[in-house]
Amino acid sequence: AHKGEKGARGLRFAPVAPNTEDAVTIPDGYRQNVVIRWGEPILRGAPAFDPENQSAAAQAGQFGYNNDFLALLPLPGERSRRLLVANHEYTDEILMFRGYDAENPTREQAEIAWAAHGLSAVVVEGDHRTGRLTAVPRHHLNRRVTATTEFRLTGPAAGSDLLKTSADPTGRKVLGTLNNCSGGTTPWGTTLHGEENFNQYFANSSRATDKRYGIGTGATERKWERFDKRFDVAQEPNEVHRFGYVVEFDPYDPTSTPRKHTALGRFKHEAATVRLTEDGRPVVYTGDDERFDYFYKFVGSKRMRRGGSRADREHNLSLLDEGTLYVARLTGDSPAADIDGSGKLPADGEFDGSGEWIPLATATAHGAVSHVDGMTADEVFVFTRLAGDKVGATKMDRPEDIQPSPHTGKVYVALTNNTNRGKAGSAPADEANPRNANKHGHILELTEARGRAESTRFGWSLFLVAGDPADPATYFAGFPKDRVSPISCPDNVAFDPHGNLWISTDGNQLGSHDGLFGVATRGDRRGELKQFLTVPTGAETCGPLVEDRRVLVAVQHPGEVDGASVEKPASVWPDGPGKIVRPAVVAVWRADGRDIGI
Ligand code: FEO
Ligand code: CA
Ligand code: CA
Ligand code: CA
Repeated sequence: AHKGEKGARGLRFAPVAPNTEDAVTIPDGYRQNVVIRWGEPILRGAPAFDPENQSAAAQAGQFGYNNDFLALLPLPGERSRRLLVANHEYTDEILMFRGYDAENPTREQAEIAWAAHGLSAVVVEGDHRTGRLTAVPRHHLNRRVTATTEFRLTGPAAGSDLLKTSADPTGRKVLGTLNNCSGGTTPWGTTLHGEENFNQYFANSSRATDKRYGIGTGATERKWERFDKRFDVAQEPNEVHRFGYVVEFDPYDPTSTPRKHTALGRFKHEAATVRLTEDGRPVVYTGDDERFDYFYKFVGSKRMRRGGSRADREHNLSLLDEGTLYVARLTGDSPAADIDGSGKLPADGEFDGSGEWIPLATATAHGAVSHVDGMTADEVFVFTRLAGDKVGATKMDRPEDIQPSPHTGKVYVALTNNTNRGKAGSAPADEANPRNANKHGHILELTEARGRAESTRFGWSLFLVAGDPADPATYFAGFPKDRVSPISCPDNVAFDPHGNLWISTDGNQLGSHDGLFGVATRGDRRGELKQFLTVPTGAETCGPLVEDRRVLVAVQHPGEVDGASVEKPASVWPDGPGKIVRPAVVAVWRADGRDIGI
């Protein structure tokens, strides 16, 4: 059925129609398999998954819950094997534990949840005739990182008074990572992971700085503060300052201590994606996923080393410790009167303009300097949102994943939605966020000045204004709207080998389940958006990786529907009726063995 399908190279498949199937629905002529599910044992000694008798010790050796970011890394010397790294963003206790009492969770349940957070590294094996992937349990590189694994704080704020706790008077050693959402793969062979909604784990705060981060004044939903006082801000005020960073993980060294990079700032990091300057320095883009928050860029000052020695690797692990952190300010080029909040294109036919990267602080080998009046460098790196507020950064509609095109260098920023835009007391629509009550989100295309990753100026335009194409307040880069798929709430973005942008969604507001879409960014098909798959009931689509012969997605929080529980499931994916719903990673390939979408 896919033969003769029209589309840009890489996007020649029959689009999947919007639907509400409790399944991963893929185009005709494609096949899929579940690569790994929550609870599958990956470490030596870990037991088989038994949801009725789960324990923290078992979970610590099993694949975690709610897979989000995915990386698939080479494994030299092991034929047809690769190393999969996955984030486990958060836990859904009501869907994990039969008879869960949210008011009175047990210590064991809390400890299972700690062990179900974090990261997994697991070797996977491909079948050379298909795109099927299967996990290789007990491989020596398989690893779990959880909410209790030891981390090192690095960079300019490490060791500062703001980061010292009673358990760690050095301010350099943290236990665990939380709410790892999306991430990135570095050119030096490590992975980056954004600690996003860390606020939800911390209770009993009364400080203004915490309020800016959404940390609550009362108990938390999971009640972890009952089992470990570090989650109680009233008892351990600085522990919360040690979450909300970009984490770097070296999956090739199973003994490595993962790092939290203070130089990239502290906020609800959706992700972190890296490119290099022409002279080999890292540039990292990272969004703060909150209504009316900002997106950022870090420009490193040290060059990556290409050699493979231990010293080179150690050097590369320090690349994100020195450099300058910037925040984005955008200015539209159309008169303000042209932007009425409806999404109607301005008279010049485009939502577009110019922008600047405003420096916040610079970290060097000899210390750090703040560029923000009234804030020290430590304060800028730990209370980065407040620094953005002070310099007048542009309040965006929830900046999620950001991805530079490896083909053109243009940078794509997913802005998932913001239903509060234009409400009384909130910022009104502007040219970069042109719809009030923005339910469906948009994608911004950013062009660094002179094409240089380290530039402090850029141009921008909106590439996609999402929604039902029949809605006049949508825009698909100028492509005819009768020939595109409807899309709502773009979240993660990735490029395929042909230079097409792939977009996964979270929170579809058009009546369909979430899904994965591909869209050409160049040529006469620029803006032709096609849906490649949909995910089961209650799930969001995460982690997309699009290779020549395989698409990999993380199906996150299937069955997460109001009122659902183990006893009353909204989804029975992936194992069918009578089985507990399980977040899982899915591989999709073409039945005839040819490349995706050609
Ligand atoms: Fe975890 Fe912003 O998505
Ligand atoms: Ca304009
Ligand atoms: Ca996300
Ligand atoms: Ca999201």
